[in-house]
Amino acid sequence: MDRPLRVAALASGRGSNLAALIAAGLPIDIVLVGSDKASAGALAIAASAGIPTVALNPRDYATRADFDRALFGRVADAGADLLVLAGFMRIIDASVVADWEGRAINIHPSLLPKYRGLHTHRRCLEAGDTEHGASVHFVTAELDGGPVVAQARIAVGPDDTEASLASRLLVEEHRLLPAVVGAIASGRLRWESRALFDGLPLASPLDIADF
Ligand code: GAR
Repeated sequence: MDRPLRVAALASGRGSNLAALIAAGLPIDIVLVGSDKASAGALAIAASAGIPTVALNPRDYATRADFDRALFGRVADAGADLLVLAGFMRIIDASVVADWEGRAINIHPSLLPKYRGLHTHRRCLEAGDTEHGASVHFVTAELDGGPVVAQARIAVGPDDTEASLASRLLVEEHRLLPAVVGAIASGRLRWESRALFDGLPLASPLDIADF
């Protein structure tokens, strides 16, 4: 590609992963940040970085699919090559996701396939896991369910709480997401019906040290 990768992001909340992506200074153009919540911190972060924003309210649409088509339509109109779900807390309609196969990634705070969905830190503690982590995966219609491309790991100690795990893991998320986006921007990581890294199919998720 003879121009920077065009990236759009969707976020429902505070936007710390978006902030990390912006701060990473990657050779990308962040063309749009969208949200299902007008009050999302992510929108303020984007606006202060001069990135166009859009917030659509799901209640203004008759069905989930209508909302998803509208929001993802805005992403397509912005000319995005890659869509990053950075704390976008909605299930996306399967027909809409299908159009983005291999072009959308999500970050999730667990070592997938463990703990899809919510309360991942609590579930990790309840299970007595000695290790926790975050995953970046290609998005499919299955919630937090697409092929995992990279993971960051932290050890779980006896004194850990939900809050301590969340804050330590967030530091790792802020390294992992830019690393994956950077690898897509450089062409090292790409999708040809499956994830390829340096031209080879991924046998297991990448680690931060692999980038
Ligand atoms: C992050 O921990 C991200 O992994 C998680 O939401 C948080 C968003 O934080 N995503 C999911 O749970 C997706 N299923 P942020 O708004 O500060 O980036």
